[in-house]
Amino acid sequence: MLASEEQRKIEVAKALIMRNKGLFRCPVCEREMVVTRTNSVICRDGHNFDLAKQGYINLLLKQGKSEYDRKLFAARKVISNSGFFDPMRHKISELIYETGAGEGWSTTGLLDAGCGEGSHLAQIISDLNEKGLPGLLGVGIDLSKEGIRLAAKDYQNIIWCVADLTKLPLQNGQFEVVLNILSPANYGEFKRVLKERGILIKVIPASNYLIELREILYRGTDRELYINDSVIRLFAGSFQMIRQERINYKVLLKEENLEHLIKMTPLTWNASHQQLEEIMKVGLKSITVAFDVLVGRK
Ligand SMILES: C[S@@+](CC[C@H](N)C(=O)[O-])C[C@H]1O[C@@H](n2cnc3c(N)ncnc32)[C@H](O)[C@@H]1O
Repeated sequence: MLASEEQRKIEVAKALIMRNKGLFRCPVCEREMVVTRTNSVICRDGHNFDLAKQGYINLLLKQGKSEYDRKLFAARKVISNSGFFDPMRHKISELIYETGAGEGWSTTGLLDAGCGEGSHLAQIISDLNEKGLPGLLGVGIDLSKEGIRLAAKDYQNIIWCVADLTKLPLQNGQFEVVLNILSPANYGEFKRVLKERGILIKVIPASNYLIELREILYRGTDRELYINDSVIRLFAGSFQMIRQERINYKVLLKEENLEHLIKMTPLTWNASHQQLEEIMKVGLKSITVAFDVLVGRK
């Protein structure tokens, strides 16, 4: 028996999916899917996926073990809530708003592919709501159930889905915008789910991103310097690049946030326990945040 809050979350998710009929395609047979009264999403061939009580849908055929665990996403959420990513998110909202206004969009479907714990998409939707962009629909997908669980817990009125971005369980031509923030890409799939003049916004680290950490952890190794040229070349070879913006700022780190910062970034995955302890002991007063935001048209 579901508690009333859980049932309410499922009802909200069901209503959203129902309102956006034809959004999902079956990950097994690629046929259209519909939501049922019995809290599941099903295709005409009978492939059936239950809505989780947290209000998300899991459309992965094989659950894999992700290196991105609950602790990482929880730390990422704390850092995210501290305002760390705000300039990047506001830039994205601005770019979407300008494009939408210019194109006269009557609907604005946003897919965040590799959304993690969901705070970027939630913030961007909230910004665009304030700006008055019409017909907003947000869909966040991620391979990690832990990330999607956290997203569904905190942000409503967005469709959250555990899925693989290399085989999106989504119908063709559904979205005005695909977001791909600090996550792997699959340009073929992104093109497929975008509408005709849809745009892809991809955020990648610039060389200076978290440079203070990188210098401590990787001085003298080939990881000391990160160069994103090959990622930009691949993007430009797949999409028509219409904008490229550099965002660069410093964030003052509250003492209690250093540990969260260390936990939230894959940069520390290969670091030794000793190195991490050393960083905690010495402390970091501020950290550089630097991204390239690439905007491409299909
Ligand atoms: C560095 S995290 C970034 C998450 C989020 N965009 C952010 O900026 O906080 C990379 C994310 O990509 C997700 N990911 C990796 N491979 C994926 C795949 N094939 N399909 C969907 N998500 C994937 C991971 O689970 C992880 O959440």
